[in-house]
Amino acid sequence: MMQADTEVHKGLEGVIVTESSVGFVDGQAGRLVYRGYNIETLADNSNYEEVAYLLLYGHLPNAKEFENFRARLRTTMDLNADVVALIKSIAPKAHPMSVLRTVVSFIGAQDQKSNSTDLRDQEEMSLKLMSKLPAIVGTISRASKGQDAIKPDPELSYAANFLYCSTGKRPDKEHEKIMDTCLILHADHGSNASTFSALVTISTLADMYSAVTSAISTLKGPLHGGANELALETIKKVAKPENAEHVLSEMLAKKEKIMGFGHRVYKVYDPRARILKKYAESVTRRNGKEDLFRTAEQMEKVMISKLGEKGIFPNVDFYSGMVYDSLGFDSRMFTPIFALARIAGWTARSLEYIRDNKLFRPKAKYIGEAGPKEYVGIQKR
Ligand SMILES: CC(C)(COP(=O)(O)OP(=O)(O)OC[C@H]1O[C@@H](n2cnc3c(N)ncnc32)[C@H](O)[C@@H]1OP(=O)(O)O)[C@@H](O)C(=O)NCCC(=O)NCCS
Repeated sequence: MMQADTEVHKGLEGVIVTESSVGFVDGQAGRLVYRGYNIETLADNSNYEEVAYLLLYGHLPNAKEFENFRARLRTTMDLNADVVALIKSIAPKAHPMSVLRTVVSFIGAQDQKSNSTDLRDQEEMSLKLMSKLPAIVGTISRASKGQDAIKPDPELSYAANFLYCSTGKRPDKEHEKIMDTCLILHADHGSNASTFSALVTISTLADMYSAVTSAISTLKGPLHGGANELALETIKKVAKPENAEHVLSEMLAKKEKIMGFGHRVYKVYDPRARILKKYAESVTRRNGKEDLFRTAEQMEKVMISKLGEKGIFPNVDFYSGMVYDSLGFDSRMFTPIFALARIAGWTARSLEYIRDNKLFRPKAKYIGEAGPKEYVGIQKR
């Protein structure tokens, strides 16, 4: 039997690498908690800025704290001409996640304080980055279609500003609420791959821009941020509710994974999917895409009847893609929208980690030749 100290935990599965009081995921009970609040409570009553404050500082802000926080975000929300020019030069050809990664890194290079390891400076970098993301992601969306950038409006909320910077129109209350809820639901999710990347980077005492650039790079992969794009493709492929049974049966018979179902942690219904389902129904109805929702609803029924007993239920990605699609976003923008929300969790957990920092340095089990081997000159090999 393998010795405990040589046991390999591939992907660090089950390994507890740190303590955190930011939030947790209870996969058996289907609970997602931010600082003690159930996600349903926050989605129903709060807004993204309040939730970001909660994740960063540990409590919901009072009116004065909230106004100060909003004011801080407002002061740095604009993009300078160099940033806009960079986005415009690369967005038409590159994937929006590559553009986002490059822009965050570029903004870090422009900030004189980015070599500082001081906690206050790291916090300032976090807020600066958060404040700019609605305009950054909105400008990437527009520039990828050859449209000009729109300056963010300091009177608008984080969610409304993102929609404004993307579409050029100030959203109505319903669309703002839907976007805001999506951002709340994606703000934090335990020790996932991108958050862990941010922690590894910040643990070297690198700056927050570097930590967020690492996190964005990690989020880019289809095993992490990209599933909603594929889930929407599958719903469009099924096309009609009456096709759900046979299309899914065929896919399952071929051992294909149905995107938007199943989760490493949740073995019951993902609480975020339950909240989003409600909004998916209303936004698709309003924007003439109700067929998508009805098809998805039937797919959910079929999947639960076939795989529910194995703990396979819809996850957040099953309904989020449909919501973003109905709000008018190209599917390539889905993962940048995820980043727009997750900045709160990445920075809150990074700031928490460096308060009691320990450099990450795991080990790999060596399975190569024991040696020592003799060196043979290149002519004799
Ligand atoms: C997320 C995921 C990787 C979790 O995988 P996992 O932890 O290995 O899943 P489980 O162990 O709970 O799977 C139990 C069974 O259901 C099957 N299953 C899991 N998710 C499935 C899916 N989406 N479609 C079809 N079958 C699925 C597994 O193959 C396994 O079958 P088996 O008993 O015949 O071996 C997987 O569900 C998946 O690939 N889902 C689709 C991608 C997705 O939506 N990702 C976003 C997550 S937020």
